[in-house]
Amino acid sequence: MARDDGPMVLCVINMKGGVGKSTVATLLCRYAYSQRRKDVLAIDIDPQANLSQALMRQGYDKFLEERRPSIVEVFNGYLPASPSRAPRRLDVASVTQTIIFGSDSHSLQLIPSRFDFSDNLTSSLRPDPRVLARFLADEFKHKDLIVIDCAPTESILTHAAYHASGLVLVPVKPEYFATIGFPLLRESLAEFKRKNRGHSIDVAGVVINNGFYDGGNAGGPEKARALGEIRDEAADNVWHIFANEIPFSRGFPKMMRGDYNYPGNATMFNHFACEFFDKIGL
Ligand SMILES: Nc1ncnc2c1ncn2[C@@H]1O[C@H](COP(=O)(O)OP(=O)(O)OP(=O)(O)O)[C@@H](O)[C@H]1O
Ligand SMILES: [Mg+2]
Repeated sequence: MARDDGPMVLCVINMKGGVGKSTVATLLCRYAYSQRRKDVLAIDIDPQANLSQALMRQGYDKFLEERRPSIVEVFNGYLPASPSRAPRRLDVASVTQTIIFGSDSHSLQLIPSRFDFSDNLTSSLRPDPRVLARFLADEFKHKDLIVIDCAPTESILTHAAYHASGLVLVPVKPEYFATIGFPLLRESLAEFKRKNRGHSIDVAGVVINNGFYDGGNAGGPEKARALGEIRDEAADNVWHIFANEIPFSRGFPKMMRGDYNYPGNATMFNHFACEFFDKIGL
């Protein structure tokens, strides 16, 4: 299935929390795998590990219990020692969870995160933000799509995501202070580009995620005002806004828990996903 140019790499990011980054990342990965038949790798670099829990479900507790390798080991560059063995070279198979195996050339896989991630990184030497990009270049050139779910705060991990990515997707909720993360993201990307002139990274666009109940009145004036601000800010940054919004749906939290019965209008996510993949050409 591999693309001639290697995988497209997308990071889902907004410096504002709770806007739907992990929901969008999870569902885009599933859509790319099932509807576009792509070979997909999801990467969780958020210590909250929501993407990992959504994709692994009950398997995530077992993964933690068994202390299996995670994104932490990718940054550290080795598998830690145990009473019975010395530290070992990190092998790609041990850090990759297969979520759905379709065929040898078509699967949905995940490099999971774990909760002690931030402690582990802050208490160790500052990791090299290029480690993740190098690891992907060495080990995952056969994939079609790699999706990285980011934490809402800027850190060395955000820079690692930038180094690994060519595209950025920005989910936003049309609410008060909706655009608070935009200037931070714009600055953060601009600074990254200044320091890494050889690297092209584009904002694929902004997706409006109606991730709250609007009282049945389509959000009223507050939502209209927030949408206006989003459009103005996006235009200033020359960021595209996808035409298909993601609707509010109680189906999304259910789907994140792995319950696909009665997803309701959460199925409308597919309209956005289709528009998104058409735009990026995958
Ligand atoms: N369109 C939606 N309709 C209903 N609920 C939603 C929708 N989008 C997101 N949610 C819910 O909102 C909460 C936050 O979503 P999510 O975890 O995806 O955001 P996030 O941006 O990844 O958060 P964080 O910044 O903490 O990583 C979750 O409980 C999720 O199920
Ligand atoms: Mg998240």
